Amino acid sequence: MIALGADHGGYNLKEAIIEYLKEKNVEYTDYGCYSEESVDYAVYAKQVADAVVSGKAEKGILCCGTGIGISIAANKVKGIRAAVVTNEFCAEMTRRHNDANILAMGGRVIDPQTAVKLADIFLNTEFEGGRHQRRIDQITKIENGEDL
Ligand code: RB5
Repeated sequence: MIALGADHGGYNLKEAIIEYLKEKNVEYTDYGCYSEESVDYAVYAKQVADAVVSGKAEKGILCCGTGIGISIAANKVKGIRAAVVTNEFCAEMTRRHNDANILAMGGRVIDPQTAVKLADIFLNTEFEGGRHQRRIDQITKIENGEDL
């Protein structure tokens, strides 16, 4: 299951991604928002991040105007590695190297077609592990207030 969330600035991207997930028969939960009326992105970041860390969702996709605010908020939840991505290379690398569990994108930065392409790459690229796992473990230590 993929958890989706957006504020008004990312609503159009979320709707395009929902169409893509429906076409591919991928299960998803849409945590909102449900229109372009102004809302606060942290509310949606928290719901999607909680779904991911609890294991309810395998991965999450969050969209706001830039992808930045909603990713910052999601990254405050322990266990979340949310990456703001604007191009195909970064969508692939954030899975291969960072094991990102949330993709964040901006509706005022990229168009819906690009967002669907980046979501497709993000959802279909595996983490490489190896030396990258050591680096993820260091991130987890920082999160837990431990020394590296
Ligand atoms: C909302 O106007 C906007 O600030 C928000 O969507 C996002 O871009 C924040 O990072």
